[in-house]
Amino acid sequence: MRPLVLIALAGLAGCIDALAPDVGPLVTSTCSNADADPATSVSLRRDLLTGVLGPCATCHTPAGSTPIGIAIGGFDMTNFESLSAGGTRSSLDIVVPGMPCDSVLLQKIGDAPPFGARMPLEGAPLTPAERQLVSDWIAEGARDN
Ligand code: HEC
Repeated sequence: MRPLVLIALAGLAGCIDALAPDVGPLVTSTCSNADADPATSVSLRRDLLTGVLGPCATCHTPAGSTPIGIAIGGFDMTNFESLSAGGTRSSLDIVVPGMPCDSVLLQKIGDAPPFGARMPLEGAPLTPAERQLVSDWIAEGARDN
């Protein structure tokens, strides 16, 4: 290639770079399957069902005041058995032991739910620390504890 062509190409490359849109930071959250706090084990009942996921019971337990999460989503969060069975869309993908990022339970409380709305429906999103507890429970094997 003649030097002049090379110079022209180099100039063009600079142009394309300048024209590239500023897309800003990544919008979808990045996910890690790693246990953020391996020294502490997360308890499903103590830390999640009666802890950070307590507000879900309104819609996702038969005893809740508006059990629409069961009526529409088919997802009952009463205990380990009902939770592990998943809902209408998630089914057994609800919790994939050791793989929080593949688990619909974690995806539904995140910024980019795979279907439907971000949970809790009509409520404030869980904080990153609360979501991390859910993630860690799954990373630790999603046990009945
Ligand atoms: C105000 C009621 C309400 C609250 C509170 C609520 N949900 Fe839901 N949930 C629904 C409804 C309605 C659906 C079905 C529509 C959808 O998937 O968006 C649903 C669906 C789901 C599903 C998908 C089930 C499936 O397989 O189709 C999951 C998982 C879920 N909710 C988790 C949660 C979690 C975790 C919380 C608490 C952090 C929560 N929800 C709080 C109403 C609620």
